[in-house]
Amino acid sequence: MDSSNLRKIIPIEQLWVNLENFENRLYEISSSKDIFLNDISQYLIKAGGKRFRPICTLLAGELGSGSNEKIIDAAVSVELIHLGSLYHDDVIDEAETRRGVLSANIKWNTTLSILAGDYLLARSSELAAESLGLESVKLLASTYAELVEGQTKEVQYQYDTNHSTDDYMKVIEGKTASLIRTSAKLGAMAGECDKKTTEAISKWAWHNGIIFQITDDILDLSSNTETLGKEAGKDILEGTYTLPVLIALSENEKKIKEILDGIKNSNINLSDVIKEFNNEVTIDKSKKYLDYHFNESMESLSDIKDIQIKEILISISEYLVNRSN
Ligand code: IPE
Ligand code: IPE
Ligand code: MG
Ligand code: MG
Repeated sequence: MDSSNLRKIIPIEQLWVNLENFENRLYEISSSKDIFLNDISQYLIKAGGKRFRPICTLLAGELGSGSNEKIIDAAVSVELIHLGSLYHDDVIDEAETRRGVLSANIKWNTTLSILAGDYLLARSSELAAESLGLESVKLLASTYAELVEGQTKEVQYQYDTNHSTDDYMKVIEGKTASLIRTSAKLGAMAGECDKKTTEAISKWAWHNGIIFQITDDILDLSSNTETLGKEAGKDILEGTYTLPVLIALSENEKKIKEILDGIKNSNINLSDVIKEFNNEVTIDKSKKYLDYHFNESMESLSDIKDIQIKEILISISEYLVNRSN
């Protein structure tokens, strides 16, 4: 997924103009007079990214009649939270690449990555307080708390063959869906949407956040070095057992436990057993979760009155579900 796909799905000229203004504002707000810190904290901004969360914010903003400046600031606030969490996530995961470049923890070190992440999170709060008001500041803070709860649960369950698909859902709701929901909600609030519309777009975004992470996790199992630039099953090697893996575990507990322990202890090569996780049964069952959240997100759209945006939201959901095919 890249923003060129989203560009085709969202034919609203104003939104793409707003996204350009968003980019400028993002650089302005994230800048530091300390050139060294500036280089590190703007490094991943320059590296790219899909801008999915700010696009959700701008789209939600289009549903109301509020000022463009506020909506753009809402988009900047959520992307800064996302960026801060990426700097920290790469330290947690000991990642080597991010957004197609070396991750900051490799290019500099973990200490500086943590500081750069903190800096971006601080600038997000400052901007929200200045431009969006107390309710938005509170929403961003409680969302970040949810995200941290999700990230912590993931660490807690690392290499744990006794946790369930329900536990997995709690992880991804926290680490991914919460910020995507808030991205839309903040846009609706900045756009001065009515309560029903705000609730509807938030619910849509929540379910699509879950879809976003599940497809990401399915893709991890099917990726190969040529297409996605990473080997299949990186999550398993890192001890993060995602939905298809937990489904395989629930289907054949004893065998899959032995395999996962074997991989952990380097007695088994993941490439020899990847089919145990990436097969018709585990993927079909994972897709049942996608169907459920797709249907829930469609239901929330009954309160969206703008027909053009409603159709766009449907297309985005279809696109997110299908990107794992
Ligand atoms: C990465 O998010 C972290 C997840 C929650 C999966 P994205 O896939 O949206 O990353 P960027 O912003 O496009 O780099
Ligand atoms: C990242 O999740 C989630 C957050 C940054 C909150 P992952 O660790 O699963 O995502 P990638 O693969 O590093 O993007
Ligand atoms: Mg990671
Ligand atoms: Mg992670």
